[in-house]
Amino acid sequence: MGGGQKRIDAQHGKGKLTARERLELLLDPGSFEEFDMFVKHRATDFGMDKTHYAGDGVVTGWGTINGRKTFVFAQDFTVFGGSLSKTHAQKICKIQEMAMKHGAPIIGLQDSGGARIQEGVEALAGYTDVFQNNILASGVVPQISVIMGPSAGGAVYSPALTDFVFMVRDSSYMFLTGPDVLKTVTNEIVTAEELGGAKTHTTKSSVADGAYDNDMEALAEIRRLFDFLPLNNRAGTPVRPVFDDHDRIDESLDTLVPENPNIPYDMHELVRKVADEGDFFEIQRDFAKNILTGFVRMEGQTVGVVANQPMVLAGCLDSDASRKAARFVRFCDAFDIPILTLVDVPGFLPGTSQEFGGVIKHGAKLLYAYGEATVPKVTVITRKAYGGAYCVMAPKHLRGDINYAWPTAQIAVMGAKGAVEILHRKDLGDPDKIAVHVADYEDKFLSPFRAAELGYIDEVIKPQSTRRRVCRAFALLEDKQLSNPWKKHDNLPL
Ligand code: HXC
Repeated sequence: MGGGQKRIDAQHGKGKLTARERLELLLDPGSFEEFDMFVKHRATDFGMDKTHYAGDGVVTGWGTINGRKTFVFAQDFTVFGGSLSKTHAQKICKIQEMAMKHGAPIIGLQDSGGARIQEGVEALAGYTDVFQNNILASGVVPQISVIMGPSAGGAVYSPALTDFVFMVRDSSYMFLTGPDVLKTVTNEIVTAEELGGAKTHTTKSSVADGAYDNDMEALAEIRRLFDFLPLNNRAGTPVRPVFDDHDRIDESLDTLVPENPNIPYDMHELVRKVADEGDFFEIQRDFAKNILTGFVRMEGQTVGVVANQPMVLAGCLDSDASRKAARFVRFCDAFDIPILTLVDVPGFLPGTSQEFGGVIKHGAKLLYAYGEATVPKVTVITRKAYGGAYCVMAPKHLRGDINYAWPTAQIAVMGAKGAVEILHRKDLGDPDKIAVHVADYEDKFLSPFRAAELGYIDEVIKPQSTRRRVCRAFALLEDKQLSNPWKKHDNLPL
């Protein structure tokens, strides 16, 4: 009963489920095994010795999702507002340590007023123990956080250290300092929702990877994501039964790329038409929409997809898109998930805001992520692959394994118009001459064949056969062995 019926009713009144109800929806029926139900806090100040609730505000244990093991904890807002005491933290730490030992993911359902105020530094110590375990578990087992209520102050740092953060719209928020403090210190007047609600974190800050309308939808989607993820960094990607032919031809792809190179098309269409059963679990769908990241399956096996999106900023790379994709590529590499990269990129976005914002460093993150990744990497260039962006988007030269191009691909230092304006500046006043130069340039460089002659493209493929070719490429790469030189750890440009 957590903190009692009255508080449970209040929780329901806010449209929120209780910790136990959430775990019931997240896990397979009857699979939850609870630990530490009888743990009590040990605080005595402020009359705390008179108030105890079994379990101390967090429900922990393990269970299964579609038969696969996972460790879980769910904070119980009905007990001291889900606030974290030393013993509450010890329960979470126990789960984290078991997850690392047994090689199974950790899913944390957060709903907490932060550090238990009555415990002072004990609560801070507890939080930091949880953070330390988050760091040790990073890259060992997948860690997923779902924010289903408040997450304020230092409490935000445990989710921030995990692989994926999801939020529930209108009932969750995350911030370091709340609206009251902001008003006093900076004179800014802002609501909790504006400051740290799901919309803010999925569209502006990119702290969250996705948002859902209510608890039930969020938990159902976490189950869906879980099916794509390996249990740990050695388990290999899960393979699920597939009812979609690997050699399915899709003739509509032959006309996906418009004849006019300035007209966009929706890259989602290609992702869905290539994937098993059109199933695409998108990560950070609402942030840096000029690049798509997410999981699909090819012949039943999980594959991470990174794809430029010509519909937004013409598919240009910028700081946000580079950071988004780099983090995704690193997740895939850490957990041995093969990567499919779909390229249509006219270059990096020019501008002072990009340069002042450090696009050099952020772009380097993506370059770095692809270059260090040792998982199978298959790339398909559908249209533009220009300049620095060609170098970044998983080319052969960053140890790309199989690199395909469609006949519509254009691989060059830059587009014809820009190139001619630099190379033939003296002819700029003569449109006829310029037209000849542009045609000459397009003839020479704006096709995939120059790159194919040099072996930088393994094959020019028909768009309609993309699924078949990509499936075969990943099948070939199943036994790929590649490792990087020994190092303590790398020094990714942060
Ligand atoms: C102890 C807490 C608590 C806390 C809430 N409660 N937060 N108890 N420690 N941190 C208790 C309340 O006393 C109340 O108890 C019950 O939880 C529900 O809280 P309400 O305030 O009635 O709920 P609501 O109106 O929904 O507001 C929720 C809230 C608010 C916005 C979270 O409670 C709040 O502002 N709490 C304090 C948040 C905070 O400043 N935390 C510290 C952040 S700093 P009863 O008995 O009435 O049910 C931090 C440092 C971590 O966390 C550092 C790590 C490095």
